[in-house]
Order: sequence, then structure tokens, then C-alpha cells
Amino acid sequence: MIAREVIDDIVARNDVESVISSYVTLKRAGSNLQGLCPFHSERTPSFTVFPGTQSFYCFGCNAGGSVITFIEKAENLDYVGAVEFLAARAGVSIPQDGKQAQPGEIPRRRIYDMNLAAAKFFRECLFDPAIGGEGMKYLSQDRGLSSATIKHFGLGFAPNSFGMLHDHMRRLGYSDEELIKGFLCGKSQKTGRAYDYFRNRVMFPIIDTSGNIVAFGGRVMDDSKPKYLNSSDTPGFKKSRHLFALNFARNHAAETMILCEGYMDVIALHAAGFENAVATLGTAITSEQARIFAKYTKKVIISYDSDEAGQRAANKAMQLLGEVGLEVRVLRVPDAKDPDEYIRRHGADKFRRVLEGSRSGFQYKLDGILTKYDLSQPEDKIRASNECCVLISGYHTGVEREVYIGQVAKQLGLPTEVIKNQVENILRKRIREKKAEEQRQAQATIRSVGDRINPDAIKDVQAASAEETILGLMLIYPEYRSAAADGSALVVPDDFFTAFGRRVFEEIIRIHTSSDGYSAPVLEQSFTPDEVGRLQRMEQRRRSLAENGPSVFRTAIETLKDAAERRADRDNEDIVSGIASILARKGKKE
Ligand code: CTP
Ligand code: MN
Repeated sequence: MIAREVIDDIVARNDVESVISSYVTLKRAGSNLQGLCPFHSERTPSFTVFPGTQSFYCFGCNAGGSVITFIEKAENLDYVGAVEFLAARAGVSIPQDGKQAQPGEIPRRRIYDMNLAAAKFFRECLFDPAIGGEGMKYLSQDRGLSSATIKHFGLGFAPNSFGMLHDHMRRLGYSDEELIKGFLCGKSQKTGRAYDYFRNRVMFPIIDTSGNIVAFGGRVMDDSKPKYLNSSDTPGFKKSRHLFALNFARNHAAETMILCEGYMDVIALHAAGFENAVATLGTAITSEQARIFAKYTKKVIISYDSDEAGQRAANKAMQLLGEVGLEVRVLRVPDAKDPDEYIRRHGADKFRRVLEGSRSGFQYKLDGILTKYDLSQPEDKIRASNECCVLISGYHTGVEREVYIGQVAKQLGLPTEVIKNQVENILRKRIREKKAEEQRQAQATIRSVGDRINPDAIKDVQAASAEETILGLMLIYPEYRSAAADGSALVVPDDFFTAFGRRVFEEIIRIHTSSDGYSAPVLEQSFTPDEVGRLQRMEQRRRSLAENGPSVFRTAIETLKDAAERRADRDNEDIVSGIASILARKGKKE
């Protein structure tokens, strides 16, 4: 748990509007701000920031909370991680007694320091001919990297030894446990001893946008397998959240970024002057990463390997990047397996020309369809036209569809009307299917599979709704918290029907009566981001109603108690009717 004082200070130093606006483009709407929700796909803004209460809420997906919960979700951190993140953003440090580290958990800062020390070790090894001669030869001769590029990326060499790094790090004061948890060492099954995880590999540090070394990738220098070893995901590091070289590329990204597959591609591109290139960390691009792109740039040129796997991955990337509103282009390097090889063969100028000739996502997919068919054959032409119409119907604006309809009609030599009608048919069918799907989902929710956060709610909807009224009022107004805490409101935890409602009630009271007193960001510490979203929903629902006076609070408490009685009566009836039926049966026998 982090102390109230620390949390308040961090929240005060990180204004919700300024933090969120570096993730979301916000427009003023009265006293609040609105934008497109970063946590679900939407086209009309339902994501709202409330400077008055220093909170946010999405009316579409029910995400909400303070700036801390926002960072938990946006940066995929836990509560403590989010507080640390915001502290770093504000340039302050968290007093160590302000928080108690979870047992067995190593502070993030400690891992970063450890990684930095390891990176220095790897670099020294690379530049020491007796140890890293082979690594240096590989990088400079085989891969053509200059000494400046090697230094710029902080590349290194992990010696062919099971203990050199380990011994070095132990001398610096890092424990075996820390080295193992930080993925610098493995743990021997037999002896339980720590041994160096990366051996005889050239090392690529992964650096986040704050300049921390968060992980490593290590490549073999020949064709042996596995080609790369990577640090695994930890609570503090998720591959799906990072982009290799983003720490450099972000400063060159205002207009365009280049997305590659491999570390080596990115390094070659930067060395050739394309400093806006990044790569995912050996995994397919995620929607989180797509949102990172959207934060820094307007247009992404996908420059994957030219093999089939690379092209398939490009399709997926195109979709995810398009969904966050980016302009997407796809590049296919002619006669080279990847951008790295192309530049080595043909030079930077030629690559620039290929970049300029990159096709729009649409043209790329259209070419993919057209080259499959022999358009002089009527059947082929029909199939091609069908596929093209499906492709066009996937675009969301009428203008886009109009433009592409014209283009396809021309390329297939068919009247525009024909293509247009077919696209409209597909769209109508989609809408019908979507409606049916929504209905199915609504049904599922009614059958209660939907409410993961408060699964009890469905069993007594009236009681659950009264609970939400009580808690919503307590979340907003201190006087209701006091009335509940000092007993004058005549409501106790046992009155609560749902386990979730009861837990929220107890936590509010606990924090309200603690010596530090109540604050919303402190309350959030006891709940998951999804649960915090539900608390926000309760609050927002109350705020949208005109009447929030004491009589509303009192009535809701009565409703809750009545509901409890009703349930008790029903149970009694069940017992009574059970007895009655037994007696009736007995009566018949006699
Ligand atoms: N990768 C990985 N593990 C592997 C193979 C690949 O993590 N066993 C990841 C690495 O991040 C790598 C990326 O996938 O950079 C692309 O793979 P590949 O094209 O094979 O590697 P390159 O870095 O491009 O290396 P090279 O050009 O030397 O083949
Ligand atoms: Mn490659």
C-alpha cells in the first residue's frame, strides 16, 4: 500500500487533462473534455475527462477513474507501477517508506539499474578484442555496421561463458534472485544455481521512451537456433507494449514512421538516415502498439520481409493500424529479403524511392486480388469483383467507398453502378448480422454471463440497483460517507446483497475513517481498473440525475433492507411450502 500523502502529491503533480492529452486528442465540451477512447475502438467520442474531479470515464466501455487508473490501463502497469510512472513524469521520486514492496517483487528502478549495468558489461565485452572479437567482426564486417551505429544502439556481446556476467553483477551487489527475476540469469534445475542466460550472442538492449533499458534481445552469429533469445515478459515489462528504437524514432516521427520486422532492419534503416523506423519485439503487432503509433505519427509505412509470412503479417498490421485512424502504406522491397538487405545492396537513395512508391493499403490489397485472377475469363472477373466489393465494404466512410468503387470499376472495366450496388448489398447484410449479434449479446447479458465485476447483481436486480445508488452517493458526497460511517444512516455491510457492493462499502468506510481520511485515488488502490470503472459508472449515473438529496439516500437504504426481507420471506415460504408438501404427501399415505 502506498501512503495517502504520496498518492495525493503524485495526483496533484499530474493534472488529468495534461496527462491524458498526451494519449488522446481532447476537445473541449462545456467544462469537460472529450475524445476517442483509447481503450476501445470507437468513431464518435464517448471518452470524457472531468478536470473538476480529476477523473475520466468512457460512456462506451465503462473505463474510468483517476489519472492513476488511466496510466494503469494505458501503460499496462499495476497500481504501484502507475504511481511510479507518474512520479517519474513529474520528476519526483517516491519515498521508499511511502510504499511497501510486494514480497518477492523487485522494484522496477532496481531492474532498470541492473539492466544498465549489464548493458555496460556487454558493451565492454564487445569492444574487448580478446572477448568480443567475434561479435565485433560479425556486426561490423558481416552486417556492415559502423562503430558509431554500434555505439548509438548500445549494442554489446554476451561472452561464451556461463558465469562471467553473473560474477560481474554479483560484485556490483545484485543477488541471484534479482538476476533471475530480471532474466539476465537462468536457474539451474539440478543445482539451483544462477547461470548466464545470454551466451555467445550479440546483444540488443531494448530501451523505453524514458531511456530505461527494459529488456534484451540476443542474436546468434551463425545459423544456429534459436536465432534470438529475448527477456520474457514480467509485470514491469510487456513486449506488446514496446517498440524497438522508439526512443530515437519518436523525435523523427511527426509525419511518418516505418514499421519493420527485425532489429537488424531498424538498425540498418537508422544508419542510412531513416531514423523514424521501429520494430515490434519479435511478436505480431498488437492494438496497444497501434495506439502507440497513433500517439506519435500520422502515417505508417509497413516494411516487412518479402516472404509470405512477412506479407501475411503486413495484412494484419494494416488492419490494426487502420483501426486507430492512421494512414497506412505498404512497401514491398523488390529483390531482397528485407529492408536491411535491400539497403546493403542498393543504398539509401534507392530505398527512399521505394518508400515513395509504397502503395496505399487499399491499392496493396486490390493488387493482391487482381493478380490472382485472369480477368479475360468471365468467371474470374466475377470472383474478382466479388472480392473487391467485400474489400470496399470494409471501409467506414462513404467517401472512401465512393473513391474505391470508381477505381475498381475502372480496373475491372465494369459500370460503376454494378460495383456500387454490390457493395451496398454486402453492407446491408453486415448491418443485419450486426443487429442479430447485438441482440444475442444483450440476451447473454440478461442471463448474467455478462457481469464479471458484480456477478451477484443479476440475482436481485432491485437490490443491486439500490446498492449502486447508495455507493454512488457515497463516492460523490462526503456527508453520505460520514452518515454511513457514524451509523446515523442505519446501513451496515450486512445489508449489502452483492459481495462486490459490500466490499466497496467496507472500503469506503475504512478509508473514510482512517487517520489519513478519504480520497478517491486512494480508494482505487483496493480495486482492479475494471472495478474502478464500475465505481465511476455508479458515480456518473448519480451525477446525471437531478435529485441526490438525503431522501434519495434514505429510500435506497430502505429498498435494500426491504429486498433483504423479501428474500428472507421467500426462503421461509420455500421452507413452509416444502413442509406443506411433505405433510400433504404424508396425509395421502395415511
Ligand atoms: N525474433 C525473435 N526470435 C527468433 C526470431 C526472430 O525474437 N527466434 C524476432 C526478433 O525481434 C527479430 C524479429 O523477430 O528482430 C525478426 O526476425 P528476423 O527477420 O528473423 O530477424 P532480423 O533481426 O531481421 O535478423 P536477420 O536480418 O539477421 O536475419
Ligand atoms: Mn530479417
